[in-house]
Amino acid sequence: MPANNHIPLSVPNLSGNEWTYIRNCLDTNWVSSVGAYVEKFEKSVAAFTGARYAVATSNGTAALHISLMLAGTGPKDSVLVPDLTFVAPVNAIKYTGAEPLLVDVDKNTWQIDLPLLENFLEKETRQKEKSCIHKSTGRTIRAVLPVHVLGNMCDMNALREIAKKFNLLIIEDATEALGSRFEKKHSGTFGMTGCFSFNGNKIITTGGGGMIVTDSEKIAKHAKHLTTQAKSDPSEYVHDEVGYNYRLVNILAAMGLAQMELLPSFLERKKEVSDLYRQELSSVPGIKFQHTAQNVSSNNWLFTVSVPRHRKLIEFLRKNRIETRPLWKPMHRLKMFRKCTYISRNDVSSSLYNNCISLPCSTGITNAELLSVIKKIKSFYGK
Ligand SMILES: Cc1ncc(COP(=O)(O)O)c(C=O)c1O
Repeated sequence: MPANNHIPLSVPNLSGNEWTYIRNCLDTNWVSSVGAYVEKFEKSVAAFTGARYAVATSNGTAALHISLMLAGTGPKDSVLVPDLTFVAPVNAIKYTGAEPLLVDVDKNTWQIDLPLLENFLEKETRQKEKSCIHKSTGRTIRAVLPVHVLGNMCDMNALREIAKKFNLLIIEDATEALGSRFEKKHSGTFGMTGCFSFNGNKIITTGGGGMIVTDSEKIAKHAKHLTTQAKSDPSEYVHDEVGYNYRLVNILAAMGLAQMELLPSFLERKKEVSDLYRQELSSVPGIKFQHTAQNVSSNNWLFTVSVPRHRKLIEFLRKNRIETRPLWKPMHRLKMFRKCTYISRNDVSSSLYNNCISLPCSTGITNAELLSVIKKIKSFYGK
């Protein structure tokens, strides 16, 4: 690798049938919101995840928004969501008029802190006619929305128990976790719906895109209806509720289908990248890796470590043409969510934000590139 080559953080790998399938859309003129690839892509995601149904959407945020609507979320409700996340699920909660209840994360797995969540529900809520009422606000807590941060997962059995006990629906933000499993069950298949994203930096990409998966035919049909402007007549322009233009177009679905064919190889490569980083960086003083429980198989989406002086390291690597990035600023520290309830004991999300850095981990990265990143990191720490 030439010394001045730029090493990006995470870029698409379009080495399969993308051109062939997209060309087929152009050749046949099926470029827009209907076409055979939409259904093929949906079927392929359903088959891969083991969900009965899949509904393609224009992006992951739209998948979350529609899922929250399908759960009946409205202005008198609240939804539990981790404090450490990309902002999209918290925005989606706001789109419905509901209030986010921000839950701190576990210091080892970086996922929603389940004992903390349960303690909050025990002390701060009461059950009324199969609804969970937040005592201090009188709001109904409609759902819990776990985010599988960086492709890792929390104990989904424990989360399901909690949700059952407190009458909460589960909507999974599995946007970063295509290919991740808890006890062999795929992310996104534990609750009412699971949401995926095919944004450019995700494990597979359609440029922009998303998917809702569910085992309920009723939910799937309603999701399709809402994402396609709620048209209720096959030929006439008659609509029966306020719908959305959240479709995924055929060209992008064609790309998605090609990417799904590559997903098993992407998962293998992501694991190799993570293993190599873990092995080679373990000697860096003060480094901490994200802990993955034994019954979780992560897709290793974006390799991230906690290290001393992480901002200085980001700057040092940038000067060496290596792209990295910090974690998301915790939601309770963003100005529009500052007044939201933040359920926390030690503000773990801020400590992770203050120490974590994501390293280059594209599926197309070479071992030579990885070793050069590792060498630079070690040199920064005088190793
Ligand atoms: C945790 C999380 N939720 C939601 C999204 C939103 O997905 P999209 O960008 O496809 O709308 C993303 C990423 O983009 C994400 O990382």
